[in-house]
Amino acid sequence: MSSFDAHRYRAEFPNLRINVHGKPLVYLDNAATTLKPRCVVDAVNAYYVTGVSNVHRGVHFLSEQATAAFEYSRQVVRQFLHAPKAHEIIFTKGATESLNLVAQSFGRQFLKKGDEIIISYMEHHSNIVPWQMLCEQAGCVLKVIPINERGEIIFEEYLKLLSRKTRLVAVVWVSNSLGTVNPIKAVIDQAHRRGAVVVIDAAQGVTHAPTNVQELDCDFLAFSGHKVLGPTGVGVLYGKEKWLEAMPPYQGGGDMIKSVTFSKTLYNALPYKFEAGTPPIAEVIGLRSALEFLQTINWEGMKAYKQELLDYGTQKLLSIDGVRLIGTARDKTSILSFVVDGIHPHDLGTIVDQDGVAIRTGHHCTQPVMEFFKVPATARASLAFYNTKEEIDVLAGAVVRAKEVFHA
Ligand code: ALA
Repeated sequence: MSSFDAHRYRAEFPNLRINVHGKPLVYLDNAATTLKPRCVVDAVNAYYVTGVSNVHRGVHFLSEQATAAFEYSRQVVRQFLHAPKAHEIIFTKGATESLNLVAQSFGRQFLKKGDEIIISYMEHHSNIVPWQMLCEQAGCVLKVIPINERGEIIFEEYLKLLSRKTRLVAVVWVSNSLGTVNPIKAVIDQAHRRGAVVVIDAAQGVTHAPTNVQELDCDFLAFSGHKVLGPTGVGVLYGKEKWLEAMPPYQGGGDMIKSVTFSKTLYNALPYKFEAGTPPIAEVIGLRSALEFLQTINWEGMKAYKQELLDYGTQKLLSIDGVRLIGTARDKTSILSFVVDGIHPHDLGTIVDQDGVAIRTGHHCTQPVMEFFKVPATARASLAFYNTKEEIDVLAGAVVRAKEVFHA
């Protein structure tokens, strides 16, 4: 029994106090987006109420204040990821844009016809499609690491796919649809032995365990603000300085230049070379508050508590006749993807919503995973540190009610 006090944290999340269809909200859709603590809302609000200004552009008080807050956020992200240098932190609009940036900027600069890119079967579409687009543009070949019935990558198959032709490996740390935690350190080390660069999709990973890009030695790592208690519309790309320096800009526009003439444009230094246009200022400031809030939490305690919730939820759902879990990896985070005999996941989602329970139903942007498990979709309850066993009981009760409604 963990001593982690979820209720202490629940008080910080105003959204948990709302009712849905007359019932207290049971928010179990944290893999889609987490709720936001009050400090994040306050930070965004403060910028909009008394701090509005653009960054890197004005000499006036508000612009300098906004610029300082924006750049301080970069330092906070650097610390959160244990990155060596702040200019290795690029602000984007989300993990998706971060991955596209690497595919288009790094990929088109360094990958050639016949080069191989390895991804895994459990990737989110945002870590599949950008590489497919690159393959079409540059003539590269996409290889896919297979998974087993538990939803784990088959490591021996990964080793077989690696060759001298492998130039890039892009793998998810924690699967959003299965909850599988991948052995990314071993994935990275093996890729590096063959001279390939490694991109980690850490969208679900950064809330699972502390992230240390220096220990991992990944070349790139992407995550989204809104999945780490922060605002939507902001994401991060960490990249090793040596790559970022050598890569061309991803987008052209203001702020990413040193000088522009019609005959020649000189690009700005890192990180601005990759931050064309007005960035998501309020969102970056909110992200800082989110990461500072997360850092007040005892991560060991949080991890143990989420494991306890996962074990409880697993046992609770499996005690219901006709429930099958999709994703039973030995190393798994608190994501419960499941199907119920005789009920389409969308119908299930609609019924449990009537009890105030928010879960996601669908393919979770991982259609190959659905195809592998031969299901059209799953229902997915994704649990955060502010969830409780009582909320899992409400979910289980709602699933039983759905079975009654559908005579399933
Ligand atoms: N990728 C997000 C999810 O898993 C949106 O729901």
